[in-house]
Amino acid sequence: MRRTEATRRMVRETRLSPDNLIYPMFVTHGSNSRVEIPSMPDCYQLSIDGILREAEDLVRLGVPATILFGIPAHKDSVGSEAYADDGIIQRTARALKETVPDLLVITDVCLCEYTDHGHCGVIADGEVLNDATTELLAKESVSHARAGADIIAPSDMMDGRIGVIRGALDDAGFDQTPIMAYSAKYSSAFYGPFRDAADSAPQFGDRRSYQMDPPNVSEALREVELDLQEGADIVMVKPALPYLDIIRAVKDRYDAPLAAYNVSGEYAMLKAAARLGWLDEERVMVESVTAIRRAGADMILTYFAKALAALL
Ligand code: PBG
Repeated sequence: MRRTEATRRMVRETRLSPDNLIYPMFVTHGSNSRVEIPSMPDCYQLSIDGILREAEDLVRLGVPATILFGIPAHKDSVGSEAYADDGIIQRTARALKETVPDLLVITDVCLCEYTDHGHCGVIADGEVLNDATTELLAKESVSHARAGADIIAPSDMMDGRIGVIRGALDDAGFDQTPIMAYSAKYSSAFYGPFRDAADSAPQFGDRRSYQMDPPNVSEALREVELDLQEGADIVMVKPALPYLDIIRAVKDRYDAPLAAYNVSGEYAMLKAAARLGWLDEERVMVESVTAIRRAGADMILTYFAKALAALL
């Protein structure tokens, strides 16, 4: 059955479709701005006009959704622009829903891009304050939903935030807005290029006191269970390729819609090796994303989404 492409196609067990893909984009203030991210070739920080053009491409290619990351005009200790009505994400969501209504807009909810210290929450005595942070995340979520976000995706890893955000969305009349929870998000060195792209590297310490310790499995299952109990509609494992066992374990245990984030470092590795002529970019891209799907992910957040969809 392996001898010809026709027979291989007949017995193929995993299929990739643009339907499975979510394309992350970085948005900045201003206009006509398009700055390539050095460690993420072919990815850009774009002003809203550029985002709208990308959005039209995504619809044409059959990619159903984007996830947005904002680069604010100003950062402060409490991440004010994250929940400002005229914040960069709020403006972008409004423009997208007006111009390209068919594209699903998912918004990443976190404070790290908006705080001057670069941590995902508010700080007191050098520590992240969990409960004070979840209140701000709830404010940010409602503000995104009000601007038109279709799905809210909290990536901060504070305890109890899904329940708090669900309550706040419901109270504000957004009871139909789903939550995609970054449930098992590991404290990973593979986020390096993203932190350059979003200018969100912590200014002191690291994220190990709130993101997960890479050697752990049971803890990931507990995190997923809590998020589902608190009202998550989609759960996520992140990163993807070094954590395929976690994706499989979550899918086997909880048959909930499952996302996996093929993160910036996973992308950068393949791009760099391809540039050196050491790997065939197209083939390693398809093989990697297929592996994430084979492990059990229903949807994959990937910087390859456009290139892959064009190929499929
Ligand atoms: C924000 C956030 C991060 C990523 C997604 N949302 C960075 C981090 O936690 O440091 C990483 C995505 C990537 O590396 O592609 N908290």
